[in-house]
Amino acid sequence: MKILATRRYPGPAWDELSDVEVIPLADVSAPRSGVEALIVANEPVPLELLPELRIVANFGVGYDRIDVAALAAAGVTVTNTPGVLDAATADLTFALILAVRRRIVEGDRLVRSGRWRGSYADAFLGQEVTGSTLGIVGLGRIGAAVARRARGFDVRLLYAQRRSAETEIAEYRELDDLLRESDVVTLHVPRTPETEGLIDARRLALLRDGATLINTARGEIVDEDALVRELVAGRISAGLDVFAHEPDVPADLFGLPNVILTPHIGSASVQAREAMTRVVVDNLLAFERGTPVPTPVAA
Ligand code: 8YV
Repeated sequence: MKILATRRYPGPAWDELSDVEVIPLADVSAPRSGVEALIVANEPVPLELLPELRIVANFGVGYDRIDVAALAAAGVTVTNTPGVLDAATADLTFALILAVRRRIVEGDRLVRSGRWRGSYADAFLGQEVTGSTLGIVGLGRIGAAVARRARGFDVRLLYAQRRSAETEIAEYRELDDLLRESDVVTLHVPRTPETEGLIDARRLALLRDGATLINTARGEIVDEDALVRELVAGRISAGLDVFAHEPDVPADLFGLPNVILTPHIGSASVQAREAMTRVVVDNLLAFERGTPVPTPVAA
């Protein structure tokens, strides 16, 4: 089976694939015959250039830039990599929560600037995560992994999602109430037509003064312009790993002390990325053998 991959994906499983051509989609300008499989990282699939395509293996759990319905209509199977990146993404989420609440990056910048004059009783006061109220929006695999980490911090845990789940991990709240009650709100819903703009200007205004918003999901879930306004005003703080127009980040955020910006690294651990490649390869090998693919995306 001839495979196109938009880059070489990390880890030893990669070597189990034969007949792979690594080429960015931007460089595929004319139709490519014979290509039956494509490996992408949440990138739009140019079906017109790949007329014999039969399977798209997405390196990632989120596939919001892939038109799954159009691919299904063309008889193309789509797979993703759920589960293997939950720990990495939950770890980064917690790193951002702690870093924002305790002003770690701001402190690092001060020390590096050479202007630090000593530890003073009233300098660099942050907020304790321990004992605070943490609101998780979307208690799926990643949200639940964040909840498990939060237990060690004795936080009061709230969650919101479309349907309340059978869970004792956290207390259910309507989204608006969760926003009003939480010290830290962290987003873990996929980007869909229903969640795009979910945290709009009205909902951002519900956040408490001094609250922190963490986004390791998708930038489009938040009204980014409204978020920038709240952050520039200094009313809230944020830890953002994802943005609405990646890799563009609103320049108004660059000088702000109350926001930490990371370059979409939720799943960027050696362990998660190698496991993601393993899942991609397992899907392709199963498809080639004619057996059910392990992690299909439902059209
Ligand atoms: C990216 C992600 O796919 O899994 C997801 O939904 O956003 C990430 O894992 C990864 O960063 C590769 O670009």
